[in-house]
Amino acid sequence: MNTPLRWPAEAIWEAVAPDLPGFTVEILPEIDSTNTELMRRARAGRFDPVLLVAERQTAGRGRLGRDWHSGAGTNTTTSMCPSLTFSIGLPLAPRDWSGMSLAVGLSLVESLHPDLRLKWPNDVYFQGRKLAGILIETAGMTEMPGARYAVIGVGINLHPRNADGLNTPPAWLQELRPGMEAPEVLMQVATPLIQTLKAFERSGFSPFQARFNARDALADLDVVLSDGMTGRAQGVDDVGALQVLSAQGLQKVTSAEVSVRPAPLPAPLKP
Ligand code: BTN
Repeated sequence: MNTPLRWPAEAIWEAVAPDLPGFTVEILPEIDSTNTELMRRARAGRFDPVLLVAERQTAGRGRLGRDWHSGAGTNTTTSMCPSLTFSIGLPLAPRDWSGMSLAVGLSLVESLHPDLRLKWPNDVYFQGRKLAGILIETAGMTEMPGARYAVIGVGINLHPRNADGLNTPPAWLQELRPGMEAPEVLMQVATPLIQTLKAFERSGFSPFQARFNARDALADLDVVLSDGMTGRAQGVDDVGALQVLSAQGLQKVTSAEVSVRPAPLPAPLKP
């Protein structure tokens, strides 16, 4: 029998609202995509700070125009969510937006587990498999010059899911945190994430740089970028650019449109 999930909406609201006037928490049983919904609202002139959680997305979106599948999960007899899917929408006016998505990823891994790593720019990895992804979009706000409405979407795998179309099967949080379900995970990540966004707005990426590099899944690995560049990853700089030591010297990669992966290992020599 399906029992409804008990979401900590009030506890999160109480922690966040004093520093974010007008903040609300909304939990929906189903929507196409929490990011799509907040971008729709922004286009209609609605810029209120909000945490929007969906127990199920029918058209989840990922970075680089990909789909995001929450997975069917393994437990169909209860209402457990196979993944936690939510978006935070809020007006932000940082001096420089560079590195914001890296700060978001860092907040998630620091809230969730010491063994989690970040694959630039912001994928959350456990033992070489992706556990969570982040999609950030923004909309202009004519009534607040200098500010944009930022929509920060997060999807975290909680239970095992099928690996359809993926080269590597995904990781899931219960590998590291057995028994932890979506409401508890939301409670753990949402407030620190909003605090991180406000800290980023005040001070930019540089205060996060060293902590990101301590969690960098690509550190000192040979990498291949989707634009063809190859080299050895050397961490990120103070604006979150990935530094790659290539044959042409140290290159800085900033484009969110570029993806990066570890280079395949050379084939063993035949005897
Ligand atoms: C990626 O890894 O490519 C980013 C995945 C982001 C998925 C989340 S789930 C909640 C929010 N709504 C979406 O449609 N996408 C983000």
